[in-house]
Amino acid sequence: MQFEDVLNKRYSVRKFDGRKVEKEKIDAILNAARMAPTAKNNQPQRIFVLESGDALEKFKKSTIYHFNAPLAFLICYDNTLSWTRPFDGKDCGQVDAAIITTYMMLEATAQGLGTTWVGYLDPEVVRETFSLPENLMPVVFLPAGYPAADCVPSERHALRKQLADTVTVLQKISALSGDFYFFWHISLAIFLD
Ligand SMILES: Cc1cc2nc3c(=O)[nH]c(=O)nc-3n(C[C@H](O)[C@H](O)[C@H](O)COP(=O)(O)O)c2cc1C
Repeated sequence: MQFEDVLNKRYSVRKFDGRKVEKEKIDAILNAARMAPTAKNNQPQRIFVLESGDALEKFKKSTIYHFNAPLAFLICYDNTLSWTRPFDGKDCGQVDAAIITTYMMLEATAQGLGTTWVGYLDPEVVRETFSLPENLMPVVFLPAGYPAADCVPSERHALRKQLADTVTVLQKISALSGDFYFFWHISLAIFLD
């Protein structure tokens, strides 16, 4: 599948047909996570594969957004490994986990699977349910599986803002008296002109 097709095909799948996901597909998703960039390449991710009956029970106990998926991943990061930005002390583990999860979602799509990013979790509940040590920070559940035949994107999926609402093109113009910066909100049509 071409990358553009993956981007266009992905949407949050919240209804699964219950078919078991093949090991090769799970491995491909985990390998995509492995290829994702992380701050300083510290690779602080710790990913749990929730497939057994017991693990899926725990998953269902941890969030209402489990969609009865036949498979889920719990993406955490180890805060003793993640990079901290020196200027303000920001721990970049959340950012790393977000990039990793995005890679996993896109690979899942390429494999003909559906996923939904589930951020609706109480980290303390997840920590207790999965007996996570103090240094592992849970960030996201990623339920995954084959989309049900009647699964369709939610109405929200199509609500994409125009580029002009989210993109600013900075243009630097040199002049005799100094440099001036122009900030333009610009539409894609103009951008491509
Ligand atoms: C940080 C984050 C948290 C999210 N948490 C949830 C969630 O807890 N439950 C859920 O059903 N969807 C969740 N979503 C999915 C978004 O609602 C969804 O991606 C968005 O509405 C766009 O729809 P689409 O994914 O179909 O394009 C989350 C997405 C992100 C990026």
